[in-house]
Amino acid sequence: MHRVTMTPDVAFTDADLDQLPKSTFVRQVDFHRTIDSTNRRALEIARGGSLDGPLLVLAESQTDGRGRGTNRWWARPGALTFTLLIDSNLPQRRFPQASLTVGLAVCEAIEEVHQRSDMQLKWPNDVYCRQRKLSGILIELPLSNPGLLAIGIGININNSLGDAPAELQATATALCDVAGHRFELTEVLTGVLNRLQYRLECIGRHDDELRTKWRERCLLTDRNVQVDLGTRKVAGRCRGIDDDGALVIETPAGLEPCFAGSVTLF
Ligand code: BTN
Repeated sequence: MHRVTMTPDVAFTDADLDQLPKSTFVRQVDFHRTIDSTNRRALEIARGGSLDGPLLVLAESQTDGRGRGTNRWWARPGALTFTLLIDSNLPQRRFPQASLTVGLAVCEAIEEVHQRSDMQLKWPNDVYCRQRKLSGILIELPLSNPGLLAIGIGININNSLGDAPAELQATATALCDVAGHRFELTEVLTGVLNRLQYRLECIGRHDDELRTKWRERCLLTDRNVQVDLGTRKVAGRCRGIDDDGALVIETPAGLEPCFAGSVTLF
């Protein structure tokens, strides 16, 4: 049962926090009612050395949530904001696959609680619901400890965007706005963590199913898009995602796979 009538003030009780290591693969929880950024905190923990299993940095609210590049992540309390710090020996060239795979896990977990199939991946790492952004993902490699990976995830769940700045209302959405009711955050978080565990194992197995799943959910396929690669922009018709996780753009010069960048027009 996913409907809740809880007070919005405390999203996570002590009992909820105790439950997380019992019902997920997370071994330690670093919880904050308010923090600047769970990714920043995870990178700080990574400087301390090795991990004793996956560590979850969880916050009820962030004052300075980080996004990709120079972006910020803006969300009122009610959003799910956390960073999972895990051991990983993922080579840099597999980062696009990791982003898509984390996004896929978010899509699948949200569809499970929402009981609708309306989540899509906007390459490289946003989750969209009904043409609006529902979740952003920021994966960082701690420079001090490159054997670890910090997977930051923000999902708009109970933070209705009804009173958000106008530009956000036009481009983003929250699950409570789509579904018309609130959700139990611990239940959603548990579902996302369990799905993440499963999908991260699939990357290790070079699982072909993953590639099919990214493609099926690609929001940009057959749209005219512009991708900012940092040094130049590529414009053309999106032809989907290739086996390596690159976004493939059909340009007048031919097919161009984009491995890293951001989609600025679509
Ligand atoms: C993006 O859309 O550009 C990525 C947004 C990532 C936001 C999440 S919220 C939890 C984690 N902590 C952060 O500071 N950022 C990520």
